[in-house]
Amino acid sequence: LPPTPLIPPSLTLAATALTTSTASSFSTPVAFPTETVYGLGADATSSTAVKGIYTAKGRPSDNPLIVHVSDLSMLSTLSTIPEIYHELISKFWPGPLTILLPVPTSGQLLAPEVTAGLTTFGARMPDSPLARALIQLVGKPLAAPSANASTRPSPTKAVHVLEDLEGKIELILDGGDCAVGVESTVVDGLCDPPVVLRPGGVGIEEIRQVKGWKGVVKGYKDRSEVGEGHKPRAPGMKYKHYSPRARVVLFEGHKPVNVGKELEGGGLKKVGVIRTGEWEGLVGETEGRIESEEGGFAVRQGSLRDEEGKELATVLDVDLGRDVKGVAHGLFAALRELDRLGADIIFVEGVSDGDDIAAAVMNRLRKAASEIRP
Ligand code: TXA
Ligand code: MG
Repeated sequence: LPPTPLIPPSLTLAATALTTSTASSFSTPVAFPTETVYGLGADATSSTAVKGIYTAKGRPSDNPLIVHVSDLSMLSTLSTIPEIYHELISKFWPGPLTILLPVPTSGQLLAPEVTAGLTTFGARMPDSPLARALIQLVGKPLAAPSANASTRPSPTKAVHVLEDLEGKIELILDGGDCAVGVESTVVDGLCDPPVVLRPGGVGIEEIRQVKGWKGVVKGYKDRSEVGEGHKPRAPGMKYKHYSPRARVVLFEGHKPVNVGKELEGGGLKKVGVIRTGEWEGLVGETEGRIESEEGGFAVRQGSLRDEEGKELATVLDVDLGRDVKGVAHGLFAALRELDRLGADIIFVEGVSDGDDIAAAVMNRLRKAASEIRP
């Protein structure tokens, strides 16, 4: 016999909440960890349960949800898996990859609220053992978007979920920090050529290596009118997403930011800076004090002064390091932490765009930013 598993009581509690909410007329979803970000889950086969997700998040109901399964046999109850996905699945599942499948036509297997009226649904098998154990205990696929309030950065710690959804959901399963830190890559292999709909934890260069995916194209747009000779994008001109309360200004080309100049006449009190490799720290290693240190980065607080020594602003300095995986891991937490510490504006040093997880980092940053500089 294999060793008897010891199941933490919180896991059974969460599974019970998910199961009973299906039966009652009023239900709240349960937040659970995955390796990408925390998800807000409900029984994907129950309309009542899935509606509870949209209510708790304040999410527009025309944005479809991803269906999470614990294993392939659970997925096979919903759909047969087209050949194009076979190698992709064996390479990247469990993991941060979501594939589009045809919505089952026989019977009402998936609540219509999951797919928001589309003929396809997104499916993913998360790598987090806690997530898979939960789904297995419930015995049903779980529909789950990221567990943030709509428009906020996705949660990578249980406390982020609490910040956004306290009083709106019954239970948060705390599994510690999410390892990847950005959401799954969403791909559509039902069309020709296949398409990446959202960059994420699995890089497009890795997907290209797989049989049938060499010609995969990018079906998302995030590169805006950035570049020399172009005006910076006007603030407030876009659908808000992944945004902290503070205004985010993204620098794409590692060009140093002159914070003093940026603040001229602005009357801003607290300035957040997120560095990813080339920018010099604005608060020296020896001056300033550590405001918080958790989850792989420290926030160092200091003063920005003019030549006469007059304080221009308080600076909250975060260094996410050079490794792009580390940047992905800490990005949402850094945005949230600077918000929590009261930053009015956040200057972010972008990473060099690439066909790996850097594409996901830049995609989220471009969406969070109200201004993009070359
Ligand atoms: O890593 C993740 O994917 C996380 C964790 C919790 O699994 N979930 C997540 O869900 O990011 P959400 O709802 O925040 O993002 C789902 C994305 C959206 O961009 C949605 O439009 C897209 O997947 N999506 C879902 N179903 C789709 C479909 N049938 N066709 C096109 N896009 C779809
Ligand atoms: Mg989301």
